[in-house]
Amino acid sequence: MDQNLRPRRLRGGNTIRKMVRETRMDKSSLIYPMFVMDGMNIKEEISSMPGQYRYSVDRMSAQLELLQQAGVSSVMLFGIPDEKDEVGSQAYARNGIVQRALREGRRLFPDMYFITDVCMCEYTSHGHCGILHGNDVDNDETLKYLSEIALSHVEAGADMVAPSDMMDGRVLAIRHKLDKNGHKDTPIMSYAVKYASAFYGPFRDAADSAPSFGDRKSYQMDFHNSREGIKEALLDVGEGADIIMVKPALSYMDMINKVKEQVNVPVAAYSVSGEYAMVKAAAKNGWIDEERIMCEMAVSTYRAGAQIYLTYYARELAKCMDDGIIG
Ligand code: PBG
Repeated sequence: MDQNLRPRRLRGGNTIRKMVRETRMDKSSLIYPMFVMDGMNIKEEISSMPGQYRYSVDRMSAQLELLQQAGVSSVMLFGIPDEKDEVGSQAYARNGIVQRALREGRRLFPDMYFITDVCMCEYTSHGHCGILHGNDVDNDETLKYLSEIALSHVEAGADMVAPSDMMDGRVLAIRHKLDKNGHKDTPIMSYAVKYASAFYGPFRDAADSAPSFGDRKSYQMDFHNSREGIKEALLDVGEGADIIMVKPALSYMDMINKVKEQVNVPVAAYSVSGEYAMVKAAAKNGWIDEERIMCEMAVSTYRAGAQIYLTYYARELAKCMDDGIIG
């Protein structure tokens, strides 16, 4: 056989396979999403997300400690308040759940990087991501609240804010508000390319944030669209977003890749609750190998173009990187 092109030559052993890997990852690009809730002495497992918990502020440090030991130094905080109202006032309260978690986290873990999700759905009685007028979310009225929430997070110690509401103009509104109050160096990671997705189901159980009527399709994107995602990404970069996120990750690899080609800011991808829940459920049944699937999902997200990966598997992935299984 006259065959001089043999791709298998570079697959012959572990050393050569690792040498030619095209995708390299680092633990510093992992962000762990974490739920904090009002109350005391709470560590409650989320039923649709085995292995993930809701923590009260006094119990969260054990988890932060484990993350730090594993080399995961960034977390994204989601708050679950005791009280909800029409305007989600606990979201910007000085003593709100996220604000208290930030002050405590800052004090105990000065080297951790704290990012906060800026949204209203966990805090509003109706479960929508903004202020309602009739049955509609009022975009411009909501911007005032979102910027107030972002400022309250930064004042409590957030290193970065991440608006996930999908209102038009929120990045600019937040940027102005932070700048005016002396926080011009605090970055904004925008959930810019965020689809109306059934993959958020388990999160809504976890955060008790499902809308009480209707759905989020009037603000989150229609998953039939990709060029619209580029529009969203470019708008947010224009408004001052420092990092652009694509969400979910698994079914949206095309978007991660396209956004990476179109914008020159770092691209993050969020492997959401439903992705995690599917892997856990299938693994529990013995139908898939959890670790290998988790690794494959992570690597393919980076291969598609993500530089930053938000995942409930952050700690486990960090270990796989340490062990040289991936990365
Ligand atoms: C808040 C928000 C959601 C998620 C992140 N921020 C829920 C939603 O938009 O309904 C989902 C994260 C996940 O599913 O893991 N708006």
